[in-house]
Amino acid sequence: MKRIGILTGGGDAPGLNAVIRAVVKSADRHGGYQVLGIRDGFEGCLDPEGVVELTLDAVHGILPRGGTILGAANRGNPFARKVIRDGREEMEDVSDQVVRRIEQLGLESLIVVGGDGTLHISLELFRKGVPIIGIPKTIDNDIDGTDVTFGFDTAVNTATEALDRLHTTAEAHHRVIVLELMGRDAGFITLHAGVAGGADVVLIPEIPFEFKGICETIQARAGRGRHFSTVAVAEGARPKGGGQVFRSSGDELVTARLGGIGQTVSDYVEEVCQIESRVVVLGHLQRGGSPTAFDRWLATRFGAAAFLLAVQRSHGRMVALRGVNVMDLALDEALAAPKRVDLNGDGVRTARTLGLCLGD
Ligand code: F6P
Repeated sequence: MKRIGILTGGGDAPGLNAVIRAVVKSADRHGGYQVLGIRDGFEGCLDPEGVVELTLDAVHGILPRGGTILGAANRGNPFARKVIRDGREEMEDVSDQVVRRIEQLGLESLIVVGGDGTLHISLELFRKGVPIIGIPKTIDNDIDGTDVTFGFDTAVNTATEALDRLHTTAEAHHRVIVLELMGRDAGFITLHAGVAGGADVVLIPEIPFEFKGICETIQARAGRGRHFSTVAVAEGARPKGGGQVFRSSGDELVTARLGGIGQTVSDYVEEVCQIESRVVVLGHLQRGGSPTAFDRWLATRFGAAAFLLAVQRSHGRMVALRGVNVMDLALDEALAAPKRVDLNGDGVRTARTLGLCLGD
């Protein structure tokens, strides 16, 4: 039996279980392959109990389930792993231990399902000889090599439903409601949900905003008898000349957590526009729950395509959606630049054509 490993790293995204199932079912159908699941991202390579065999029984019924049966870790970088030494936090490079464990397991291929961070780690491991095949996932949709990542569609649907719900209560109470959405430095969730959910103001990291413009839009609506507005703001959005807003992570050695810009915008609206405002932070609701049909479909296609790459022993590659087809490309090419909202693209053009306020 040849062996394939699979792990899910970084923040979870709806569709991870669909990918795992697709790999296991493809391997079973093909024959001659055993699939090993590595728990909690690369952390499982450092844990004697961190590897499990994935049989058909293990993946039974998981297609519609959110999360990941393998667990995920978005603080699990083997090149910079947090350790406590003499009461102090330090970073340690344990990548050689990870490489050794993968060799000991006899993995012919290791399928890594991850976002930008996890796939960059995978590229470094590939350069150290690990037979990596990448599958892009993230609700943020910020991986350049693929048109879309799975997880994104589910997050956009959740955010759109939230806007629909906030719309009715904002209207009933003649208020502004500000909805803060995830996406880190990319505004895709906010732009797509903002348009789909009919937000009046959409603020994304790619377009630094002016508070003045927000107020003008809200007041102009009030002038037309619309005494309420909804604002979709990305957690990474920032005012012109100002910085992004972070929650204190309490941990200087890991990526700081974005959050708080929604409150800043809401406070401004109340003070300057003189209209009552509330803020809702949608947070991890965007990552949880059952994947949409589109995300199950995409995740399943990615899983099957990654298995076929494993059969060909085609390593250092990432599966991707380009147009309507799943293909693959070199991992380093896929990760060469982060993907951001194209300011000249049709998403932004659509929002502007409809007269949405983008804050600039
Ligand atoms: O990258 C996915 C994401 O959900 C971002 O949109 C968000 O900024 C971050 O992860 C939150 O991470 P955590 O799970 O550590 O709160």
